[in-house]
Amino acid sequence: MKILMFAASFRKDSLNKKLIRNAHKMIPAGHELILREFNDFHMPLYDGDLETSSGIPDGGKKMIEAIQGAQAIIISSPEYNFGIPGTLKNAIDWTSRMSPVPWNGKQVLLMGASPGMVGTNRGLWEVRKALEALSAFVYPEMLGVAQAHKAFDQNDQLTEPRMLDQLQKLLNKFTAYADYASKFKA
Ligand SMILES: Cc1cc2nc3c(=O)[nH]c(=O)nc-3n(C[C@H](O)[C@H](O)[C@H](O)COP(=O)(O)O)c2cc1C
Repeated sequence: MKILMFAASFRKDSLNKKLIRNAHKMIPAGHELILREFNDFHMPLYDGDLETSSGIPDGGKKMIEAIQGAQAIIISSPEYNFGIPGTLKNAIDWTSRMSPVPWNGKQVLLMGASPGMVGTNRGLWEVRKALEALSAFVYPEMLGVAQAHKAFDQNDQLTEPRMLDQLQKLLNKFTAYADYASKFKA
């Protein structure tokens, strides 16, 4: 199974980039992993007039191609003001303008990292809602790393054994399920 992975942050020192890179190293063998930077998918704010005059922008087209080329997608997203970051919602909106919608039928796993005490699950529920609107299969379990500024060592490795165990078990379950379920996509 081809798995696209990215963190929905542009920041160089992004906690979500650290989390997705840890997850990338922990995916069970036997899958083709495509780790991308959200920075490759920079695009302007959605504007219907811009779409009419110029179509989907280059960053949106790159993201669409990346989604089309994978059966499963793992996203690590920050939470902004208890919700989905505008940058990620904008990217989902632009990519939804392609027909057929590239998210349709994709297996998706959501995770996120935040320096806060609560984690990112309030925001991830909004990511889930937008992707389910596009007929993606979003895995029921999500992982939010709270106090993430303390979760990584100087080599950006997750240090807490319980968190590593939780992430490993989630990746094992998701890849086993998604590998099976993606075979039902026409
Ligand atoms: C506009 C904005 C809103 C934020 N709102 C939240 C929030 O609701 N919950 C939270 O846990 N962190 C919030 N944060 C803090 C982010 O979790 C923190 O900046 C995090 O490092 C962003 O992810 P990144 O490191 O991957 O860029 C917010 C940050 C910004 C810039």
